[in-house]
Amino acid sequence: MSQDVGERDFNLAFNEGWSAMVASPKRVQPALLSAKQISALTQRERLRYNDARSVWHANLGPYLTPDMLGVMDELDTIVQSNRQDGDRVRSAALLDAYPGLGKTTLAVHYGVQFHREQLEIHGPETAAGNPRIPVAYIRLTSNTSMRSLNAMLCRFYAHPSADRGNATLLGARASECARVAETRLIIADDVHFLDMQRRDGREVANHFKWLANEFAVTFMFVGVGMAERGLLTEGLGVDKAQYAQTARRWTRTSISPFSLQSAEDRKTWRRLLLAIERDLVLANKYPGMLADDLADYLFARSTGHFASLMALIKRGCFRAIKTGDERLTQTLLDGIRNDVASEQARVNLESMMRSGHLSARLTG
Ligand SMILES: Nc1ncnc2c1ncn2[C@@H]1O[C@H](COP(=O)(O)OP(=O)(O)OP(=O)(O)O)[C@@H](O)[C@H]1O
Ligand SMILES: [Mg+2]
Repeated sequence: MSQDVGERDFNLAFNEGWSAMVASPKRVQPALLSAKQISALTQRERLRYNDARSVWHANLGPYLTPDMLGVMDELDTIVQSNRQDGDRVRSAALLDAYPGLGKTTLAVHYGVQFHREQLEIHGPETAAGNPRIPVAYIRLTSNTSMRSLNAMLCRFYAHPSADRGNATLLGARASECARVAETRLIIADDVHFLDMQRRDGREVANHFKWLANEFAVTFMFVGVGMAERGLLTEGLGVDKAQYAQTARRWTRTSISPFSLQSAEDRKTWRRLLLAIERDLVLANKYPGMLADDLADYLFARSTGHFASLMALIKRGCFRAIKTGDERLTQTLLDGIRNDVASEQARVNLESMMRSGHLSARLTG
């Protein structure tokens, strides 16, 4: 059994954690043992095997759907073509979508790839001999002000004065850190925590403009409902929206929930389920366990949301291992609660499926 079976406690909001994640090898899938082989394990071996499988099932993927691949492509175009000299304003990328669809997963996946690629091309040190940090990642929390946003950036770079000084001073420190480390991409996650409707909404938009000018990097902003919140129009309101510079400088990309409307949608859902079932380490799994026998059911339970689907699979696998079923069935999954939003929406979807109005089947 591989020694790397535990969960990894990376804190991505610090360079130390982010870089450790970038450097960490791909997880190794635990061996698929038969029920007979499992029963032949000693108790200790079995506990360890089951523990390794739980961690594995909690970290499946990322699976990249056509939608996500499209977004990755767009992000890559924005980031890689932003090669103008530092004195010219760079455009920013915005990944704006509803909760639980995989925004963070996608942004981090892209960031890690980009980071590795940059190290590959330019080496681990800058020309001046400093450690190269191609990507910085910060995650906003409720009540993030401009000062705390700048402080977060300083903290990412482990600046010794990350908590002292006003917003401008901290911003200057952060931009110096980014310059020295030759950072090329800054991912700011959960940007919706900057409330654009508040009095200082305009100030925030101006601050982003300042950041884009000051840092010779591409910003990738990730958040929920940012177009609706007026982030792109700088809170100017619909009538004056054409004056907003942000809308011209930012390119918006988005991901949608899974759907079963078109044949293409149903194919995407099936492909995803096939990919997931291939990765499950359950002794009694069989081809079609998810993609054929549970396709409708999983759609109704998850309402096509990645987070709800993966939570259900993870908990289902845990239960299947614990009970010794070693496979996922509707009966087993029926006993598992999912998040509140999907439990509420599930009722409607199930009745549509019962009446034949919705199905994950490829034909029809
Ligand atoms: N591409 C993917 N492959 C596998 N699992 C995924 C993928 N995207 C999302 N998930 C699962 O969904 C969960 C939630 O995803 P994530 O945190 O990326 O969503 P989000 O859109 O950032 O949500 P929020 O709006 O709450 O920040 C992840 O923890 C993971 O289990
Ligand atoms: Mg997120």
